[in-house]
Amino acid sequence: MLRAAPGRVQLAPEGYGKTDVWAFGDSVPGPVLRGVQGDRMRVRVDNGLDEPTTVHWHGLRLENAMDGVPGLTQEAIGPGETFDYDFRLPDAGTYWYHSHQRSFEQVARGLYGPLIIDERERPDVDADEVVVLDDWRLVGEGEIADGFGGLHDAAHGGRIGNWVTVNGVGGEWQRPMARGMRVRLRLINVANGRIFSLRLRGMRAAVVALDGQPVALPQETESIALAPAQRVDLVADITAEEGGEALILSRERDGDFAIVSFPVEPGKAPRADEILALPSNDVPVPDAEALAAVPLRPLRMEGGAMRGMASARLDGEELGPRELAARGMVWALNGEAGMPDEPFAEVRRGETVRIDMINDTAWPHGMHLHGHHFVTVRDGAIGPLRDTLAVAPDDHDEIAFVADNPGDWLIHCHMLEHAQAGMMTWIRVT
Ligand code: C2O
Ligand code: CU
Repeated sequence: MLRAAPGRVQLAPEGYGKTDVWAFGDSVPGPVLRGVQGDRMRVRVDNGLDEPTTVHWHGLRLENAMDGVPGLTQEAIGPGETFDYDFRLPDAGTYWYHSHQRSFEQVARGLYGPLIIDERERPDVDADEVVVLDDWRLVGEGEIADGFGGLHDAAHGGRIGNWVTVNGVGGEWQRPMARGMRVRLRLINVANGRIFSLRLRGMRAAVVALDGQPVALPQETESIALAPAQRVDLVADITAEEGGEALILSRERDGDFAIVSFPVEPGKAPRADEILALPSNDVPVPDAEALAAVPLRPLRMEGGAMRGMASARLDGEELGPRELAARGMVWALNGEAGMPDEPFAEVRRGETVRIDMINDTAWPHGMHLHGHHFVTVRDGAIGPLRDTLAVAPDDHDEIAFVADNPGDWLIHCHMLEHAQAGMMTWIRVT
């Protein structure tokens, strides 16, 4: 049972009050839901809020009816009602769940949690830590600021906050580690709009998975960019000296701040062996050779501050920027603001889909596809699998995927104010 309800948690620094949140299971983040690859997961969601909600299982290749999108895959769960989610777990890895109803407000108020699918054979690590990064906009004694879905945030980088938490802890989340330990770190960015730019210190770390899917060749790294909804799994050897600390720093305008600290206890010399790849989940990946024959479908992003757009369609009407803004719309995908009646693409099950994600705006966007994982394609070469891709301003990225999961699936920007203000469309797989 997973209950969504109002709650109070200590997010702000000591000396400030508790914060009124909306939470799953009375905590922010909500409880870690854990399953094993190949099993099913059953979760009864009980809505203790006084407005409707749903739960979306972000990154899972599950049955369409369990995807948690109100008005597309289910009716929203009314106050006092329950809904039974029951879905397959085809892929091991790091995922998350969150409200998909007025998500720009419900997620910002705390309705999210980690969803971890374990490999049938556990990888060789000494510890496994979930690291959920959020960004809150707090005012006064630590209350969440109002103004959800405001047009100014929507037209810029989304609701950027002023208080970062890790696993619900502000300032610095700490966990002691012995020197030489090999730890898997599962980083999840649940913020509405903030792209985290992270540095790693006192550890030798390699990226082993992106958005849950293992990468073929883990690369050592000291820095990570994490757009909203993205995940990165690291395997890290703690190399800092005993008495020191290993750190994850967040790069802000005015410097680097430690948000995670691993105080280092006596242990052993760090391992010298290579950090190995996790076993692949066998997501079907399009064949590079065959791709050339697949039509490239443009998905053009327009609008937002500093660029705007001449017009866009909304509910079947072509409207100018002022009329669009009056109806809360400042972005468009292929000239459509908001969820169009017709899908962006209708394809047969098993077909390969190629999309050119064209960012004609002055802002980065974190584009998310439901129910599938896609690869990026650069100069004909296939990149790693992802479910959420950051596309830089005035750039474009080609993605491709095998549409093997029947149903109606959203494609939207995961900067939740952008999605609300127009950047949302869908594909139909028959
Ligand atoms: Cu993380 Cu449409 O969702
Ligand atoms: Cu966006």
